[in-house]
Amino acid sequence: MTEAAHPIRFLHRGAVVDVAAAAPTRTLLEWLREDARCTGTKEGCAEGDCGACTVVVGELDEHGELALKPVNACIRFLPTLAGKALWTVEDLAAMGGGALHPVQQALVDCHGSQCGFCTPGFVMSLWACYERHPEGAPSRQQLADDLAGNLCRCTGYRPILDAGQRMFDAPRAALERAPVVQALRELNSQPAPSQPGAYHAPRTIAELAALRLARPEARLLAGGTDVGLWVTKQLRDLGELIYLGDVAALRRVDVRDDAIVIGAAATLEQAWAALADEWPALREVWLRFASLPVRVAGTMGGNVANGSPIGDSAPVLIALGATLRLRRGDALRRVALDAFYTGYMQNRLEPGEFVEAIEVPRNAPAKAPPRLAAYKISKRHDSDISAVLGAFAIELDGARIAAVRLAWGGLAATVQRAAAAEAALLGRDWDEAALQAAQQALAVDFKPLTDMRATAAYRLRVARNLLRRYWLETRPVNPLPPRALSVWALEEAR
Ligand SMILES: Cc1cc2nc3c(=O)[nH]c(=O)nc-3n(C[C@H](O)[C@H](O)[C@H](O)COP(=O)(O)OP(=O)(O)OC[C@H]3O[C@@H](n4cnc5c(N)ncnc54)[C@H](O)[C@@H]3O)c2cc1C
Ligand code: FES
Ligand code: FES
Repeated sequence: MTEAAHPIRFLHRGAVVDVAAAAPTRTLLEWLREDARCTGTKEGCAEGDCGACTVVVGELDEHGELALKPVNACIRFLPTLAGKALWTVEDLAAMGGGALHPVQQALVDCHGSQCGFCTPGFVMSLWACYERHPEGAPSRQQLADDLAGNLCRCTGYRPILDAGQRMFDAPRAALERAPVVQALRELNSQPAPSQPGAYHAPRTIAELAALRLARPEARLLAGGTDVGLWVTKQLRDLGELIYLGDVAALRRVDVRDDAIVIGAAATLEQAWAALADEWPALREVWLRFASLPVRVAGTMGGNVANGSPIGDSAPVLIALGATLRLRRGDALRRVALDAFYTGYMQNRLEPGEFVEAIEVPRNAPAKAPPRLAAYKISKRHDSDISAVLGAFAIELDGARIAAVRLAWGGLAATVQRAAAAEAALLGRDWDEAALQAAQQALAVDFKPLTDMRATAAYRLRVARNLLRRYWLETRPVNPLPPRALSVWALEEAR
């Protein structure tokens, strides 16, 4: 394949910036602070956790409209900005015509800042929310969900949430989108950006497949919410990168009659929204998966391919009977997700192959849907990695268990089904004796580890308790509504 260099250009402050000379793993935050001297954006953790570095990235969606996303600049590699637009805290006052933007003014008025270190990040998350809601203020809970990736250590969240509501009261100062859309169209009509031997950003599946075959050693980069940390925390040299985020056909989620097909580069936010639309029981796991800036950057394809034993998507997808569509050149094959992992962070991908899509079967309309539940246990409620995640689907024929899938993260070297516990249930009545047999069998299925998130004994105990909770919610006799078992519902009722 002939290699040609094509510039990496994006839109910043109304001008096109060319960063072709930057190293592919230079972060957007490094560029902002050290090159562009936009030091309003702060570095707190450099791992996507605190939100101090939040900026807003605009890109054209599949309908050609401008989509604005809050993004963690600390783990975003600069070349992935090609063809997109960037806004930082410095840009907002300019939009207010010299006065503070309503977002900033509301933070002042509500005393939403003390030391101010977190404030630029909050401002940008709030601005993204402001632009997403031209109709007016969202609910306070929606605001809190949007801000779950921004930490403040001194002000406290009440005044910040107050500001999030107050900002909608001022006369609207909306972004003028048409010139941005026009500029992005022009940028994207130019050849796909590339740095030979270092960085490629194909735009079609065929181009990606050819590149992947020609360079099987190159690292695939999707949202970079895992890979970014390999650079900022582990200081790893990643070698050549192939970026998936510009392959339009991979960024789609298609809801077909028989399946939800999640393109490998569709964001976590898109994917979870589609899954929770079909299975509302997944809403809590969706909103507790990282934070909005991570979910609008990271992909479900990356979560599954990375294969972390504590990744949140895999147990849910396995409980739903998902299959991966893998591509190598023109050749396609399908592998059931529960057969994909071969060991700790290892999987069945061949050299030159990649995940093209995740296919999740939908409920056949004529059939009683399986009872699905997923429970995440983590030290912090929001934006934390799981200690244990259990996802369960059971089909009952009367009281008898006709089919069962129990998938777990955090109990073994890979996300895994509990074969012995499933065998203890299949064909039996879904009663307390069956539950207890399955609880006992979990010790056969899993020998969990002790680490900083949880002890082995805690993991096993919590796994057994989650199974009990599931039974209480799904037993044929006197099932309890999920709210009766939710600590948050108890809290609200106080
Ligand atoms: C602050 C923070 C919070 C987080 N919270 C959670 C959480 O709550 N739950 C959770 O599960 N994870 C969490 N994560 C981890 C991360 O967000 C997810 O694993 C995410 O889904 C990774 O997707 P990505 O697109 O960013 O992948 P990348 O980082 O781009 O890639 C990850 C790996 O997958 C490979 N890869 C990517 N796409 C493909 C493909 N199509 N085919 C083959 N290989 C591919 C890459 O080469 C790399 O090895 C968190 C991360 C951060 C930074
Ligand atoms: S510096 Fe903490 S999220 Fe980026
Ligand atoms: S104002 Fe100090 S950390 Fe938020």
